[in-house]
Amino acid sequence: LLLTIILIIFAYLLGSISSAILICRLLNLPDPRTEGSNNPGATNVLRISNKRTAATVLAFDVLKGTIPVWGAYFFGIEPIYLGAIALAVCLGHMYPIFFQFKGGKAVATAFGVLLPIGLDLAGLLVFTWYFVAKTTRYSSLAAIITVSLAPFYTWLLKPLYTYPVIMLSVLIILRHRANLVRLLKGTEPKISKKY
Ligand code: G3P
Repeated sequence: LLLTIILIIFAYLLGSISSAILICRLLNLPDPRTEGSNNPGATNVLRISNKRTAATVLAFDVLKGTIPVWGAYFFGIEPIYLGAIALAVCLGHMYPIFFQFKGGKAVATAFGVLLPIGLDLAGLLVFTWYFVAKTTRYSSLAAIITVSLAPFYTWLLKPLYTYPVIMLSVLIILRHRANLVRLLKGTEPKISKKY
């Protein structure tokens, strides 16, 4: 149990490291929290910078989700606690202790924590996100639809993990409230460099 608690705390702290904020600082770019959608995530970094920087942020945010879950799996932690570790890293990304608890929406990090569950699930999630993003050009809508379908996909492919995935999905949808309002009003920016 002690090991599990340590891993949960480690996951939260790792989640709290915002790659969007740090990479923008490193490259002398504007702070993603005060530019564009004010969200420290890959989509907003794409608006501020370019595809390469956004892809780097995306890769770090995905990795930071995968590392603690893989690590815990390696240590033989039970599935129920793997769920807690997955939630902890995403909560760290959303409410980072290092950045006044103002973080991102954890779409990439949630994908990272789900990656070790299986490539079939990961593939379906990527396909869904890409399909919606490609047809609508809205990153947020792609995320909202993908995380809404994620519990259903999980139930079909890896039912053991359905409950933690439902919790993750609810958290992520709640983080997209402002996006939902903008989507309904028709003021949500599309995926592009301009905002
Ligand atoms: O991954 C975050 C995305 O779903 C929305 O980002 O910057 O458009 O609020 P943003």
